[in-house]
Amino acid sequence: MSSQAPVRRRTVPQIRAMKGEEPIVSLTAYDVITARTLDPHCDVLLVGDSLGMVVYGMSTTLGVTLDMMIAHGQAVVRGSARALVVIDMPFASYEQGPQQAFASASRVLAETGAQAVKLEGGVAMAETIRFLVARGIPVMAHVGMTPQAVNVLGGFMARGRSRDAWPAIEADAQAITEAGAFSVVIEAVAEPLARRITETIAIPTIGIGASPACDGQVLVTEDMLGFNDRVPGFVRRFGELGADMDRAAAAYAKAVRNRDFPAESETYAERDA
Ligand code: KIV
Repeated sequence: MSSQAPVRRRTVPQIRAMKGEEPIVSLTAYDVITARTLDPHCDVLLVGDSLGMVVYGMSTTLGVTLDMMIAHGQAVVRGSARALVVIDMPFASYEQGPQQAFASASRVLAETGAQAVKLEGGVAMAETIRFLVARGIPVMAHVGMTPQAVNVLGGFMARGRSRDAWPAIEADAQAITEAGAFSVVIEAVAEPLARRITETIAIPTIGIGASPACDGQVLVTEDMLGFNDRVPGFVRRFGELGADMDRAAAAYAKAVRNRDFPAESETYAERDA
């Protein structure tokens, strides 16, 4: 008989209760290997629609579809056991209104086994969030720089640098809290604003480029692992896996060219016998 306690997956109420207690650790994951590696270290694994840019090489997240999010969400759920899995609702899958959002979000949860969805927007999305939460769909909100609004914002730039911009972003954070979101990503806003929102609203704030004042942090995993040279200034690199992969690929290419490979007897047939 095993004496090890079964691993329990984090729940939405547990994440919600971390506000003011313990910083929430979150990273993006889009596949099984990444999910398996990050799972022991993270409270929340976010299947972000950033996968459109990181995995598929798109220039924005606007081309990501619900089917793509579901396929990657299934992989991350399969690869994890402990972290809460949150899946981004892609552009045009929820903005028409609560009914459309429910149809999309219910598919995401039913087909992946993830615990929650994330959607971008504040005041404009409050009614939709209220509708989803009342029908059993936990929602993480996303305010500040919202990448799906890139064409309205005019680029992926920081928000709230000037004080004039603060009231609208604060109103967004307040509206999604009152609507029942269990947490909120605050992206690319100035530290004093992130601090003010964190101190004011009752749910955890998870910052990305929004200072340590937030209740937790999230980063795009490939950025923090050093796979991309062009990353936002706030990204701290915790690894240099891009350089490592380059070295490994070069070593492999050299081995192939030198015919430096195991003899026939060491290949599958014998190993598996
Ligand atoms: O899509 C994403 O990965 C995100 C995070 C960067 C917060 O929304």
